[in-house]
Amino acid sequence: MKNLTTTDHEKVCLSLVAALCARDVYTRSHCDRVCALAMDLGNALDLRAYDLETLRIASQLHDIGKIEVRDEVLLKPGPLTPEEWEEIKAHSIHGERIINESFLPNRTGVAAIVRHHHEALDGSGYPDGLSGGEISQSCRILSIVDKYDAMTSSRVYRHALSHGEAMAILQKETRTKLDPRIFAAFSTLISSSQPCFAEP
Ligand SMILES: [Fe+2]
Repeated sequence: MKNLTTTDHEKVCLSLVAALCARDVYTRSHCDRVCALAMDLGNALDLRAYDLETLRIASQLHDIGKIEVRDEVLLKPGPLTPEEWEEIKAHSIHGERIINESFLPNRTGVAAIVRHHHEALDGSGYPDGLSGGEISQSCRILSIVDKYDAMTSSRVYRHALSHGEAMAILQKETRTKLDPRIFAAFSTLISSSQPCFAEP
């Protein structure tokens, strides 16, 4: 097989994004916002160019595994049963497999971030219960911006929290699940670069 060009790689990425959009428009727009925030935060933390590019693709595709979650679970307006919650949680493993089966050039790195974007520093995350230093900086970045965007967006099953409410929850989670240094950088970034977020 001939080597794929950068344009080809971008097409692979965009095709996966288009598939996700066809399945769930919210997830697509969520991934777009998360990607933009992850890039700003990665730049603020001086990530190397290769790591930044890997994070860009991973953040755009982090929920691609939701393609395999049934509509009645993915779009359910009410609370999930324990079995349904397990089905949702499996999206990170599905996503890892989809990325590994793609032709993306840095798919190993992207797939690892996608698999671990719901891990927590205290080991309470999923799917592997990684803790502390086992969780990469890219996953820590993605975890914070993913949670922030999820909390400040409206879904069928809940209203959006205000910026202040979301930041207070994230701040609290720096004692257990989130990286305090990266959260501090995120807090500085979002309050300085997004004037509309200045209100509580
Ligand atoms: Fe996710």
